[in-house]
Amino acid sequence: MNTHKVALVTGANRGIGLETGRQLAALGFTVLLGVRDLAKGEAAAKGLDGRVEAIALDVAAPDAAARAADDVQRRFGRLDVLINNAAIHYDTGSRALQADWTVIREAFETNVFGAWRVAAAFAPLLGAGGHGRLVNVSSEGGSLASMDAGAPAYSTSKATLNALTRVLAAELRGSGVLVNAICPGWVATDMGGPGGRPVAQGAAGIVWAATLPDDGPTGGFFRDGKRLPW
Ligand SMILES: NC(=O)c1ccc[n+]([C@@H]2O[C@H](COP(=O)([O-])OP(=O)(O)OC[C@H]3O[C@@H](n4cnc5c(N)ncnc54)[C@H](OP(=O)(O)O)[C@@H]3O)[C@@H](O)[C@H]2O)c1
Repeated sequence: MNTHKVALVTGANRGIGLETGRQLAALGFTVLLGVRDLAKGEAAAKGLDGRVEAIALDVAAPDAAARAADDVQRRFGRLDVLINNAAIHYDTGSRALQADWTVIREAFETNVFGAWRVAAAFAPLLGAGGHGRLVNVSSEGGSLASMDAGAPAYSTSKATLNALTRVLAAELRGSGVLVNAICPGWVATDMGGPGGRPVAQGAAGIVWAATLPDDGPTGGFFRDGKRLPW
């Protein structure tokens, strides 16, 4: 029986996901790096201190989340923290009126349906410990309050992820599972490009939501532990 808390981070072989895994491992979590390429994931896991391993989880593949959940159920019997971090297609420069349907469909498949499938597959395991934390890594680009032209696939997919956060939080209220959407800020990763803040800062707000006390917020949208407008 594993007595350490278990955390799964999707899209964790690089960028903010990898750094979130690093920070959770440093806090004593057993960390599962969800990756679509197991070789890359195993290399990433080797580079981190603590109890860290890779698990195959292409969030855009229809059956992958259910398979990964079966695996985690068999090995650990529960999941304490789920970080829906995997995302693609920051299509800045694109316009909604000249829609590239391939990009839009791919963005929704990963950023929305991927996170949704993973949440649904792991919800029973998150509830099993009585103190689960589900973190959807979103973006202020998905905030309706400041929605503007540009990045149509990305911003509408993140707005939908925010809506999903509200629905999941409501459905899981009272189960001990807290569900929140977190914007990491502009972070210098492959997606964010140069000039953003360090990954450690972006990941810290995600780890904050992953380690909330039982009386912490649920159904909220935060950056650096401070509320953002929806
Ligand atoms: N960077 C920013 O400024 C910024 C700002 C706001 C929000 N965010 C959000 O923060 C999160 C992490 O972003 P990042 O900057 O770290 O991005 P990134 O550097 O592009 O990394 C994305 C990660 O997601 C993985 N991924 C993509 N599709 C996947 C799939 N179908 N299944 C599993 N994994 C998949 C990638 O794996 P591969 O290596 O296999 O491609 C990679 O590990 C995203 O949700 C993003 O929207 C980022």
